[in-house]
Amino acid sequence: SFVTVSDVLAGKVSVGTTVTVRGWVRTRRDSKAGISFINIHDGSCFDPVQAVVENSLPNYSSEVLHLTTGCSLAVTGTVVESAGKGQAFEIQATTVEVLGFVEDPDTYPMAPKRHSMEYLREHAHLRARTNVTGAVMRVRNCLAQAIHRFFHERGYFWVATPIITASDAEGAGELFRVSTLDLLNVPKTEQGEVDFKQDFFGKEAFLTVSGQLNAETYACALSKVYTFGPTFRAENSNTSRHLAEFWMVEPEVAFADLNDIAHLAEDMLKYCINAVLTERADDMAFFAQRIDPTVIERLQHVVSNDFVHMDYTDAVEILQNCGKKFEYPVSWGTDLQSEHERYLAEEHVGAPVVLKNYPRDIKAFYMRQNDDGKTVAAMDILAPGIGEIVGGSAREERLDKFDQRLAELGMDPEDYGWYRDLRRYGTVPHAGFGLGFERLVSYVTGMTNIRDVIPFPRAPKSADF
Ligand code: 4AD
Ligand code: MG
Repeated sequence: SFVTVSDVLAGKVSVGTTVTVRGWVRTRRDSKAGISFINIHDGSCFDPVQAVVENSLPNYSSEVLHLTTGCSLAVTGTVVESAGKGQAFEIQATTVEVLGFVEDPDTYPMAPKRHSMEYLREHAHLRARTNVTGAVMRVRNCLAQAIHRFFHERGYFWVATPIITASDAEGAGELFRVSTLDLLNVPKTEQGEVDFKQDFFGKEAFLTVSGQLNAETYACALSKVYTFGPTFRAENSNTSRHLAEFWMVEPEVAFADLNDIAHLAEDMLKYCINAVLTERADDMAFFAQRIDPTVIERLQHVVSNDFVHMDYTDAVEILQNCGKKFEYPVSWGTDLQSEHERYLAEEHVGAPVVLKNYPRDIKAFYMRQNDDGKTVAAMDILAPGIGEIVGGSAREERLDKFDQRLAELGMDPEDYGWYRDLRRYGTVPHAGFGLGFERLVSYVTGMTNIRDVIPFPRAPKSADF
């Protein structure tokens, strides 16, 4: 029967059973006694399984001795206890069927040596076969499954929000346009402007920057919902924390306030980290060995301690008085830079920190105004090594206040007609947040560049494969 490498190594197959494992060669070693040891991986777990192949097999010299890293094969044999150290079980092969040789092994881009992350990015179609990318993608999957489980167990409904939209949900103007107009021959109005009425949707349309506004409509009916999908930002930031296409987890909760969602975010992060520590111990051991020696202790600390909460105003004071020389000065009312966020999380607290009640002028139009007239009920969670990982807020549910804010910002209430309806018909206080999924994967694995934690990264001047 066909089994996975994980089944064999985890002892799910009894010793003495005949099985077939299919996968790819990681390494081959031949003993003088005419026995070859082939490490086979199939992606089901971190470690490969060892197949022991004797020279009595008919294709031993014609094929087995030509196997190189990356060759695909199906090995049938008996599961036996392994005498070698490092693995409990191995396969004593009775047949080795080669499915695909590697043409010209000397130039195979994934030769078994340590490649730089830059090199692997240039081979995004082959890097999935490496230890590091395999481990990242298994952890990524574990986190995604844990997120769905977390919300499902708490009675949240998963709502599919649209990817194509007419609204700029963050009001930041970082939109990718979606259009079927011929760029070289765009229909113009009499005033000489681009005539989007003639475009596919009859108006301007974009890729979504956030599912939040659509999620709010469902929260104001199903009470507890979340979206989890791709979002897009035409933000020209060539950094290790920004992608042009990234995934976001966005719960939206009716009758909730800022503290409710801050605690929801904390519980969700702890739940996800616990899932990874228990379900992906194999991959985490690798990250601790190769990427960041303290990653596991760091995560254990996170799950067993309460998050520190702090007001933006207090954070500014801490930054001004800490004696550290920052590239960008800090003053009340300015947005915190990555260096400030990292100082707070890494040096001041030494763990994730929840920052609350930001100046309203640096935050989005939909955030609920506080009674002081200066701040909004917003919160960001800052993580060591990353900076902002979660951004959320209570939403302005009072129509008069919302309209006032739109007017101040020079925004057209007509563009937000449907959103205003939520405030006109049975409005309720509600709040939510967005978790940058790739930032979470970076944080949990210790991988320092966000482009290495998504299968095919999209960033300025980079949309290959
Ligand atoms: O802080 P942001 O812009 O918040 C929103 O979009 C809200 N509508 C979310 C909500 O309340 N439902 O983005 C949320 C998170 C950030 O904290 C960050 O982790 C991540 O999304 N993020 C990015 N991740 C990767 N690349 C980018 N360019 C990102 N921009 C934001
Ligand atoms: Mg933000």
